[in-house]
Amino acid sequence: MKSLNISPMPEQNLEQKINAIRSEAETSFKTATTSRDLYDLKVKFLGKTGSFSVIMKDLSSLSAAEKPLAGKLVNEAKQALESVYQVCETNLKQRELDEKLKSETLDLTLPGVPAPLGAQHPVSLVTEEISMILSRMGYSIRTGPIIETDRNNFEGLNVPKDHPARDMQDTFYIDESHVLRTHTSPIQVRTFENEKPPLRIAAPGSVFRSDSDVSHSPNFHQIEGICIDRNVSMADLKGTITYFVGEFFGKGLKTRFRPSFFPFTEPSAEVDCQCAVCKGKGCRMCGDSGWVEIGGSGLIHPNVLSFSGLDPKEWQGFAFGFGIERMAIIKYGINDIRLFSENNVRFLEQFAT
Ligand code: DAH
Repeated sequence: MKSLNISPMPEQNLEQKINAIRSEAETSFKTATTSRDLYDLKVKFLGKTGSFSVIMKDLSSLSAAEKPLAGKLVNEAKQALESVYQVCETNLKQRELDEKLKSETLDLTLPGVPAPLGAQHPVSLVTEEISMILSRMGYSIRTGPIIETDRNNFEGLNVPKDHPARDMQDTFYIDESHVLRTHTSPIQVRTFENEKPPLRIAAPGSVFRSDSDVSHSPNFHQIEGICIDRNVSMADLKGTITYFVGEFFGKGLKTRFRPSFFPFTEPSAEVDCQCAVCKGKGCRMCGDSGWVEIGGSGLIHPNVLSFSGLDPKEWQGFAFGFGIERMAIIKYGINDIRLFSENNVRFLEQFAT
């Protein structure tokens, strides 16, 4: 190839200069250790303001006869370098990918880190379980409002104004005719007035009484059970409750019914069940008696039925109202009712399932 000589570097002709740059670039490309460095080198040698662009400027001083040869040399060098670059880039990228995959390898045999899970509140847990049991027994779930009329909370349940039975429950009055419901029994009145018998209804909910100590909270929960049909007797009530208690606390626990008084039932009975902690032997939980009270029950008073338009000669019914916290206390051996409302995580997380 004919040698070319251009100023301002008379000591090296153009061909030598091109070859020198070409071999410097080739060596640099081959020794680059990262694809980022390699790219920077490409810019340095082949970029717009790179070494070859500077050379191209020198070409302008050549004669018209010399220019094509010089241009050809530059192009050849650039093309050769471009392919060296491609090979080096492919190799480096593959190496980088291999290293990345190696450092990010997952060991699928390692035990997982368990995600912390919340737990259902024991009141929700017990409410849900009781509702499930009663649903399986043919009861439908209903709810009522927390702010109730005096009429539904008392009058419709055979507790007229100034009746001494009102003293059984310390009531939070909203105004003359509205209260924070003191029990779930007003859902009886709502149901009788809106649905046609025969009926089997279970109604869980929050209730309020102006009362607070170790065993009483101003806000607690009850579940009301209501059954209306023809020829309903105390035997149906006892059979239903005994079966329900066995499902909730465990089969084999006996129930007993103590005569009591509620204005909305006649006869009325308090329901005790054998202590689930000691199975009736006697322990701290049941005050050594072997029995714990879970709520009230009875045959629905004819006045309650007729108040809501049901003929007591045609329809009879039984009802029961159980304390949900009480049932949770007995089932889980909880010793202080205030634990239910303190939101202590160490207490609550024990109910994680
Ligand atoms: N409502 C009563 C209370 O809160 C509990 C109760 C007793 C509910 C007898 C009933 C019942 O349905 O028949 O103390």
